[in-house]
Amino acid sequence: MNKNLLRLQPYPFEKLAELKAGLAPPASLKHIPLSIGEPKHPAPPFVLERLTQSLDGIGQYAATRGTEMLRAAIARWATQRFHLSEGALSPEHHILPVNGTREALFAFAQCIVDSSEDAKVLMPNPFYQIYEGAALLAGAEPVFINCDTANLLPDFNSVSEQDWQACQLLYLCSPGNPSGAVLKLEDYQQLLALADKYNFVLASDECYSELYFDENAAPLGLLQACELLGRKDFRNCMVFHSLSKRSNLPGLRSGFVAGDAHLIEAFFAYRTYHGCAMPLTVQQASIAAWEDENHVRDNRELYRKKFAAVIDILAPVCDIEKPEAGFYLWLKTGVDDKTFAAALFEKYNVTVLPGSFLARSTPTGNPGQNRVRIALVATLEECVEAAERIKQYFTEKN
Ligand SMILES: Cc1ncc(COP(=O)(O)O)c(C=O)c1O
Repeated sequence: MNKNLLRLQPYPFEKLAELKAGLAPPASLKHIPLSIGEPKHPAPPFVLERLTQSLDGIGQYAATRGTEMLRAAIARWATQRFHLSEGALSPEHHILPVNGTREALFAFAQCIVDSSEDAKVLMPNPFYQIYEGAALLAGAEPVFINCDTANLLPDFNSVSEQDWQACQLLYLCSPGNPSGAVLKLEDYQQLLALADKYNFVLASDECYSELYFDENAAPLGLLQACELLGRKDFRNCMVFHSLSKRSNLPGLRSGFVAGDAHLIEAFFAYRTYHGCAMPLTVQQASIAAWEDENHVRDNRELYRKKFAAVIDILAPVCDIEKPEAGFYLWLKTGVDDKTFAAALFEKYNVTVLPGSFLARSTPTGNPGQNRVRIALVATLEECVEAAERIKQYFTEKN
């Protein structure tokens, strides 16, 4: 057996189930689950239609590289969304379809890490737990970069020279889960210089990039930063995108990676053996989704309404800030986050995720402590009802 399996940590939701075990919330209150980041808005009907119209694709093996049509649709979308120059992204050399970002983020570490050396994989703290598991199973040591308490971005200046030296892969998450914080051009500039100096790869998880508040201020992506900085070959860079949050299609399992042609070729070789080609039926539905922006704008509007309503209710009783992007509130609890989440469940039948379950303890503390992650994925009515209950909880506590 692979002994690295023993190093995997329990998933945050296992810890949450343990925390809630034995607690009995009032039966009079309907349960409102806000812990899981699973989109709940309806899937776009035209995508589902294309899916059912494409069922004949099930009768064929799909190629790992995906169809030319899908890669061309992705290239058009990414070029427009990230203001890339025409032809900067070649469907042939810079893009691969993946079955959602989760599998790709995991598989990418298996492809990049050379465990015959002292390999380190760096990641934000708090973080999406797949990064850590990917590093461990690739035989690398995860290194956690605590997020700054003010701007909620990883404090890259806190990383030691030794860790940069051993870094083979750095995961970025912008907009961040759980904070929604967005990396700026100067952050990317610093990171690209570090990647060149220490020869490591940047894996930029951008699966929340389409959930933002100001239609005129979409979050910057890594490829866009490369273009702005004149880095035309996207050297050392790979971005990860998904239809799960953008288009409310978490069950479709569809996304893509794009970036450095050498990395794409290596990842393609890896994936050929891994056996994770996207079914042709899913590819057809994905083309329909990438080619439409109206449903994405409507989706943002739904989140905008929920954030406005929930923040309006909670602002008088706690220290709350609207995130820059994403669909999470990263709420300061003022008390231990586990105590907060357990009491909120027990008294008000609302489930939120303790922040410390999303982070690792480091010598300078656990950056998830005294915060909870609240996913505004339920309906507007349920989010409002949950906010009212949370307000009541804060009011009673004080
Ligand atoms: C930060 C982050 N990355 C990646 C994923 C995986 O999403 P998917 O595999 O559906 O694209 C999630 C899902 O919640 C996430 O929060």
